[in-house]
Amino acid sequence: MRCFIVGADTQAAARLGSVAADLGFTVSTLAAMDALRIDKQFLATPRALVLVADSSLAFEAADFAVQAAGQAFVVLVADTVVPEAYKALVRSGSGEWIQWGSCEVELAEVALGFSAPAHSDGGARVVSFLPSKGGVGNTTLVIEAAVHLSNRLANPRRGGARVAVLDLNLQGGTLADCLDVEPRFDIAEIVGRPERLDEQLIEVFTSRYANRLDIFASPMRASGAEEVGPGLIFTFIDAISARYDAILLDLPETWLAWTDTLIQGSDAVVVTGTTTVPALRRLSLRLAHVADLGVPEGKRAVAVNQVCTDLFGRFKRRPEIERVLDGHRLFFVRRDGSALEDASDSGRPLLESAPDSRVGRDIRRLATWIEGLVAGSAAAAKGGEADARETDPRKARGRQGIAA
Ligand SMILES: Nc1ncnc2c1ncn2[C@@H]1O[C@H](COP(=O)(O)OP(=O)(O)OP(=O)(O)O)[C@@H](O)[C@H]1O
Ligand SMILES: [Mg+2]
Repeated sequence: MRCFIVGADTQAAARLGSVAADLGFTVSTLAAMDALRIDKQFLATPRALVLVADSSLAFEAADFAVQAAGQAFVVLVADTVVPEAYKALVRSGSGEWIQWGSCEVELAEVALGFSAPAHSDGGARVVSFLPSKGGVGNTTLVIEAAVHLSNRLANPRRGGARVAVLDLNLQGGTLADCLDVEPRFDIAEIVGRPERLDEQLIEVFTSRYANRLDIFASPMRASGAEEVGPGLIFTFIDAISARYDAILLDLPETWLAWTDTLIQGSDAVVVTGTTTVPALRRLSLRLAHVADLGVPEGKRAVAVNQVCTDLFGRFKRRPEIERVLDGHRLFFVRRDGSALEDASDSGRPLLESAPDSRVGRDIRRLATWIEGLVAGSAAAAKGGEADARETDPRKARGRQGIAA
């Protein structure tokens, strides 16, 4: 793994150099972006991390992220950044801005994209999203996490990782509508005839959202879906497993014959919920059940969604929520109806339509934790944990750092 640090401030460059070296990168330092463009070592590196340690280079960093997309991931490390440069960086899909105060933790996350392939045993990692009740945003979070993973996971074997979302709301979920794709996963069609499930039928069931992201979304069905038994679901997951690095399951609210086994077989489980008193109660019950099923603590997380915020963007009732859900890894996601509505009206995920929004950042923290587990990187999972603990202060700092 190679890292190139750009900046004229030798102290700042040295600090980043030491963080990058601790993360396992081989580090080179250059004074200016132009020097990097013609640097022989950089040109010979198929995938490089570029750390820009100078806020005056923000626009140059964003331009570079666009030009070198695919080869370089560019991180601007600065306490403030002009909004236009920040947006250009994030929208390049190959850049991010982080602040000095949190650079160790955030660079550990970034390092994930440069780690080894997701895994080499051939099968996909399975992540279950389990709603504690209806309408808590389960589908929304599955989609956003899938988009994040498909952009971030590395798999040199395939030139990038492939991710699938499997909508198990078999009577018809909302997932296909959110992404404006045709729902084609009509598994009820082969109830009693699992032998029909061949490569060709899998293709028929697939809705391609993006190069690396496929959707298996259930069409509306008046009847038949309730007959789909556990055997068929597991056969299907097995059949598609070799095609993907990660499969994210959008589980229904109602408990079905196969729910427990799917959860036990998952590599990670995210229980989703909201913050009213009855909703928190439901969330606690679901979490207790998941723990009873033997899912280890390190593989469980809670997405507390649609959390109200105050004028400063801090989560309201946070201490109370943390007390009720004590002992669980929590990710707070703020309520932002307009950002989510815009995303769903445009048929595009929020991480594409408004990646730099605050709610986008909240969701990215959850997605990064999942990425850590899927990529099997302990360091990244640790970074995600630290993130989960200090979501609030970091976000407050993040926005304050954007210069007016
Ligand atoms: N953080 C958020 N802030 C505001 N609105 C949100 C947030 N998350 C999700 N929503 C909205 O809540 C609604 C329900 O979301 P979604 O369909 O993802 O929930 P669900 O749990 O999958 O629901 P269902 O039980 O119908 O499957 C959608 O309109 C979505 O845009
Ligand atoms: Mg749903």
